[in-house]
This record gives sequence, C-alpha cells and structure tokens, in this order.
Amino acid sequence: MKFCVTTPIYYINGEPHIGHAYASTAADILARFKRLDGYEVHFSTGTDEHGIKVARSAEKAQMEVQAFSDVMSKRFRDMSSLMKISYDDFIRTTEDRHIKASQKLWTMIEKDIYKSSYKGWYDPRDEMFVNDSEIVNGIAPSGGKVEWMEEESYFFKLSAYQDRLLDYYESHPDFILPQSRRNEIISFVRSGLKDLCISRSKFSWGIPVPNAENHVMYVWIDALTNYLTSLGFPNDIEGAESYFRECIHVVGKEILRFHAVYWPAFLMAAGLPLPKRIFAHGWWTSEGQKMSKSIGNVVNPFEIVEKYGLDCVRYFMMREVRFGEDGDFSVEAIKKRISYDLANDLGNLVQRVLAFIQKLGGHMIPDYNFSDEEKVLFDHSRKLIGKLRPLMDNQDLSNALSTIWELVAESNKFVNDQKPWELAKQNDPKLYRVLTALCEAIKSIAFGIAPFMPDTARKIFDFINIEGTSFAEIEDKFSSQRFPKPVPLFLKSE
Ligand code: MSP
Repeated sequence: MKFCVTTPIYYINGEPHIGHAYASTAADILARFKRLDGYEVHFSTGTDEHGIKVARSAEKAQMEVQAFSDVMSKRFRDMSSLMKISYDDFIRTTEDRHIKASQKLWTMIEKDIYKSSYKGWYDPRDEMFVNDSEIVNGIAPSGGKVEWMEEESYFFKLSAYQDRLLDYYESHPDFILPQSRRNEIISFVRSGLKDLCISRSKFSWGIPVPNAENHVMYVWIDALTNYLTSLGFPNDIEGAESYFRECIHVVGKEILRFHAVYWPAFLMAAGLPLPKRIFAHGWWTSEGQKMSKSIGNVVNPFEIVEKYGLDCVRYFMMREVRFGEDGDFSVEAIKKRISYDLANDLGNLVQRVLAFIQKLGGHMIPDYNFSDEEKVLFDHSRKLIGKLRPLMDNQDLSNALSTIWELVAESNKFVNDQKPWELAKQNDPKLYRVLTALCEAIKSIAFGIAPFMPDTARKIFDFINIEGTSFAEIEDKFSSQRFPKPVPLFLKSE
C-alpha cells in the first residue's frame, strides 16, 4: 500500500511564517498517520527558487541569486525541523534532478505548445498574468503592482483541455476538496480557459526551455513538476507513477487553480496519471487581521513554538479551525486550547491514571475479564483508529481530533464514575479491570494523537511501555511489566 503527500514548495523571497508551518504540519500529520497504518509513504516538501520575484529579492539583498537561494532555502529547512516535519524528501527547484525533470516534462507536452507573442499585465507577486478587469489602479488582486509585459513566448493549449478537465472533475468528485472550492474551480473552467503563456525571455533566473535560446520556463511549470521530480521522474517513471496516483497535494486556497486546472492539464498532455486529490486549505489571520509585515502581526513559527511548545502549536492549528476553512490565530485562543483540551483533559487523564498506578507500585497487572462497564470503554478504545481512518482520508483533521477527544472525555468520566482510589481502599478485584480499560484507552489515544503531537505521544508510549511505531500494536495486551514514573505532559499557559 502506497501513499504520497506533498506540501507546496515555498517561495524563498521571504521568511517562513505560520502559513507555511500550517501546510507542512497538515501534510506531516497525513504522512505520519499512514506510516503508522502500515503504508509505504513518500512525503515531499521544499523550496520554489526560480522566477522574477526571487531574482529581485536577491538583487535587493545584494547577493548572487544562487547564494541567496541557498541561504533562504535553509530557513525553510529549519522551519521543517522546528515543526518536526517528517519529510522523505526536501526538494529545491535549482537542483539538477529537477531541472532534468522539468525539461523532460516540457518535451512530453510539446505537442500542445506553440510560439506566439504575448502582451499583457503581469503580477510579479503571484507570478501570473492578470486580466484588465481584475486590475484596480495598477494593482492586481494579490495586492501586487502589475507590470506591462510584451514578449515572444511559448504557449500551452490549455483551451483544448477544458472539456477533458470538466469530465474529469465530474467523474472524480473527490479530486478537489473541500467541495466549495471544487465548485469554484468548476465554474472557473466552465467560464472558458485561455491558452497559457509558459515561458519568459525577459529574465534568465529559471529553467531553460529545451532547444530554445533565451527562454526560461514559466515558474509555475517548473514548480508543479517538483512533485514528480521528488518521486524519481523521469528516471523511474513507473515507480513515480505508482506513488503519484496515491498523491494528495496539500495547497493553500489561492494556489488551487494552478494545481487543479493547469497541473492536471499538463499531466494529461504528457500522458501521465493524475494525483489522487488536491486539498485546499484556508488562510490564517492574526488577532483578527490579515497578516502583513507593515502591521507587524505576522505569526513567526519559531517564536510561537518557543513560547507555547511544538505539540501545543500543532494541536492548536489543527483543532481550532476545520481544515479547509480560514482561521484566526490569537493568543487567547491558543492559551484556552492548551489549558482546557491539553492540560485539563488529556494531561489530567494520563497523569491521574498513571500516577495512581505508580502509587500502587507501578505494575499494571492487566485484567481483561471485563464486566460490561469496562468493556464499553475498551471497545470504544479499540474502535478509535477505525473511526479516524475515513476522517484522515478526507483530510478532516479537526474532526479527527474531536473524535479522539470524545474518548478522552469518556475516559475521564470513567475515572470519576469508577473511582479507582476507592476500589483500591476496598481491595475490590474490579480495580485492575478498571485500570486495564483505562490504560487501553490511553494507549489508543496516544496512537490517535501520535500523528498530530508526536512528542506527547512518545512520552505516553514511554510511560506505558509501548513502542508506538505501528497501529497494529494496539492489539497487543499489556504485560505486568513495571511502568516508569510519568511526568506532567502540559503546563497550563499563563
Ligand atoms: N511557490 C508557490 C507554491 C508552488 S507549489 C508547486 C507558493 N509559495 S508561497 O510560499 O507563497 O506559499 C506557500 C503556501 O503558504 C501556500 O499554499 C499558501 O496558501 C500558504 N500561505 C501563505 N500565507 C498563508 C496564511 N496566512 N495562512 C495559511 N496559509 C498561507 O505559493
């Protein structure tokens, strides 16, 4: 069983921010879940280093563009380490393997490419041409200042793919998620597709078009190809295809069009399979406002991880907002999540059960001869991962967390109702059945949260002597080996 997931590759003209950390964390969670579920996973991320924007940023920084790219790409690699992104490949579009892959893809779609001259307004911020009707006082919808471009260019016959794309969307209703975004794409394609200008000759910071002097590829062709490069294309086309068919592209809503319209059209032209899904997530604001350097409210992942801790940040981002919708990052909201969901609910459950077992000497003495009450909790625990699977397959990450928290709440209630400390006082034989059911619940919860909060899950696995590398371990029964002493998982945020 194969699974593939990708993040967008990030432009390196600015510092990593919460938006980048968000996309990477979501993709990481999907990858981790599938690894635990026994899949062979390929998870790629990286940096998008060509294009006019990067060339200009390098100029501003008074650096040679490749040197500038090296420095900035490293910042994104550092962000990935910070967020514990478990990528299998970090791809840079300036790498040789990628230049070869992009040129190969170009030759594979050449039958749909023609040369013509182009005149139009270009938005360097989004690296795209914009229609006159979209421009207000010289400003594109992205907020970027448009520039007049007039040049001999290569064009891709995108218009010829309109019907094939619509047919594909129709016959693959889950190709684009969420549904609301899918509808937007369908109406965009229905309204008519124009051919796409796919080369530039006014600047040279790009991948040379094969057999065409002075032309570099439009940065988006080069960027999208990264997903194939990372899978070994074109050297190992079969291997690449086998993963690619199972591939989920996690992208932000503003770059959905490139992924859900242009990319499938290029792939169809090349005779390559299409990825399984494009999932568009929403955007974060900061304390209710659009993030911007001039307001100074850009959320810096390095700062918030330092302040709140990695797992708390990962949890907050995935729980606070339904994946696919826009959300707001506020200090109050993250503190609340940490205090209530993490410290009070999860932290407390683990602490009160495991500290109590320590009090009894640290041996759990498993007893699986459950009566009805314990059996209910045990059954719910064993069903947790099965409930999460379809949610994860739909990238419904916030609901996956709420489902885990239902079991957390049920377990806390079970402790309150069963009062193990009283059972101990009375030497009631029920005691170890209750504790066994609770440890089973804690084990399933740890597996459930492992993709979301890897460090916290690791701590819990260690507390209960579980290796924690595969969901299959959930089936193992506890032995009476001594549990090590637990320490509190979360501190309430002041
Ligand atoms: N280089 C292109 C992607 C090419 S993929 C073949 C690009 N890079 S980017 O660095 O500008 O953006 C990367 C991602 O960050 C996008 O998916 C975008 O949606 C996301 N975000 C940027 N700001 C964001 C927020 N404020 N909130 C959430 N995500 C945001 O586009």
